[in-house]
Amino acid sequence: MTNATPFAHRFEPAARGGAPTLLMLHGTGGNEDDLLPLGQMIAPGAALLSPRGRVLEHGMPRFFRRLAEGVFDEADVRARAMDLAAFIEAARTRYDLPAPIAVGYSNGANIAAALLYLKPEVLAGAVLLRAMVPLSAGPELRAEGKPVLILSGAMDAIVPAANAGRLASALEGAGAAVTHRTLPVGHELSQADIRMARDWLATVEHGAVPAV
Ligand code: MLT
Repeated sequence: MTNATPFAHRFEPAARGGAPTLLMLHGTGGNEDDLLPLGQMIAPGAALLSPRGRVLEHGMPRFFRRLAEGVFDEADVRARAMDLAAFIEAARTRYDLPAPIAVGYSNGANIAAALLYLKPEVLAGAVLLRAMVPLSAGPELRAEGKPVLILSGAMDAIVPAANAGRLASALEGAGAAVTHRTLPVGHELSQADIRMARDWLATVEHGAVPAV
């Protein structure tokens, strides 16, 4: 553990039987409130668990340290992913939750990808919005059959298309059931992200791994 202080977080209990549990992971400069509306839009009635990243970059919360834009401190990525995994496990006990599906945006998508590389058992699946390869060494464990949706932006100035493609291949190589779509947008989220994430989650909830 890099830090024994608890994660500040929000928890919204499920408002519908059978609804999934989503782990909402914000982008750089966000907080635990940011993605609750997104969670409600893409999975109405879902339980939402939303921690705040504990790294501060010029006062902006993140989930791990970076050396420069798109250049990660990989030792910190590893340590922070383990801290987040411990938080998820403790929150599951505290709130009586199944393994959540991560929904991460930008830095939040990158820490979710790191969990899939290092500790896939803590997640039931993941929606990775504008994600990058989190660790150069590749996934360390199998993520057999784990449903993963990656939504990239063709005009994303932060995530090169080839990097997102490498992430999709690496997760596929680890056995995950990856759907990767590239939208005609930049790094910001769009209505198409919301629609695709909602349709994909509905299919996952009904037990199939979807094509969107
Ligand atoms: C990161 O640092 O995780 C990525 O560059 C995305 C970002 O937060 O800007």
